[in-house]
Amino acid sequence: MFFGNSILDAIEIKKSGGALSEGIIREVVAGFTSGDVPDYQMSALLMATFIQGMEYEETLALTRAMAESGDTYTFPDCVDKHSTGGVGDKISLTSLPIVAACGAPVAKLSGRGLGTTGGTIDKLESIPGFSVNLSRQAFERQVEEVGLAIIEAGDLAPADKEIYALRDTTGTVDSLPLIGSSIVSKKAATGAGHLLYDVKCGSGAFMKTPEDARELAELLVRLSESLGIRASALITAMDNPLGAAIGNALEVRESVRFLKGEHVPEDLAHEARLVAVRLLELKDIPEPERAVEESLSSGAAYEKLREFVRAQGGDADALDDLPVSGEVREVAAPGGGYVARFGALSVGRAALALGAGREKKGDAIDFGAGVEVLVKIGDEVEEGQPVARLYGVRQTELAERLVLEALDLSAGPVEPPPAILDSL
Ligand code: URA
Repeated sequence: MFFGNSILDAIEIKKSGGALSEGIIREVVAGFTSGDVPDYQMSALLMATFIQGMEYEETLALTRAMAESGDTYTFPDCVDKHSTGGVGDKISLTSLPIVAACGAPVAKLSGRGLGTTGGTIDKLESIPGFSVNLSRQAFERQVEEVGLAIIEAGDLAPADKEIYALRDTTGTVDSLPLIGSSIVSKKAATGAGHLLYDVKCGSGAFMKTPEDARELAELLVRLSESLGIRASALITAMDNPLGAAIGNALEVRESVRFLKGEHVPEDLAHEARLVAVRLLELKDIPEPERAVEESLSSGAAYEKLREFVRAQGGDADALDDLPVSGEVREVAAPGGGYVARFGALSVGRAALALGAGREKKGDAIDFGAGVEVLVKIGDEVEEGQPVARLYGVRQTELAERLVLEALDLSAGPVEPPPAILDSL
């Protein structure tokens, strides 16, 4: 049945399991973004898509249509990375200064945190004076002169923003073609020519199993390559928080410690190095492992972070001792044993309760709030030993309960799990 009306035709075709043409997808995306296609019709199409799925060519057409729905940038020589979101994920703050110091320029548009998932933009704004709003010219100039610039994504791929908001309220978020096209459309609009996807997997992530994470990673890489972006992916663990710090200023502090060569938990140090190496590989930079180590041991990576912070109006001297909340409360182990789990989701919720994140868009956050975990999987603890520090004044009792809920102790020794689960 055809109505000669793109959205009705699209709903009929998808409902019966057919494939949508590129033309119809473009018309529907343009119509929804301009307001001509109402929410109820788009919701019907999203649900039909959720149930019937999409062929690869349809997913690619949807990605292209959303990528081209607003402003686009072009940085063919630049690298970028994308994480599907996790708790304590400070890999952008740690790996990007390294690759910039190694001669691979970075042009990045990032988002704010929502729920338990942090956002790089909030973390950067915890640095006094730091601005995430640069004009297009200033952004391009900084990429050229400093080799590292990060701004707020703003109005990039507006069609994705509108469609994502509708998916969020119609039970249609967890559809592989819709997730893949949503992520890649924003990356394609950002315009970097070399892209690494960090697909998080585990209880604190969107993808709960390595199989699902791999399927998403394969789709992200394939869509990117079809759009002319050189891409690869890592699948990394997100059952436990990454590193020790969760919360904006706390995470910047931990990133600074890593870049200065001070001790940080091994999962963070390993993953930050590996992401940097993989980004350099995408740029064909020779001996990437050696380049990464040299940028760290010479101080060049830390100096690049300072230069980047200064260029965006931030106080680079504040990085050495970034202020965090003065209200600190320690959480004690309820018994003895070996740490078997420090669940990312509950620790993330504790940080959120303390004010480090937002329950809903637009909520004010406390940059100095968050959680520091003092033990990692496999560590032996005694009853009463501090296992976490809570920073902040909001809902401290709830945060303590959530941290205790997150902690599982085992009577026998526990092997720390691998940080990297798969790679493509
Ligand atoms: N992140 C996105 O940007 N889009 C999705 O659909 C899911 C996660």
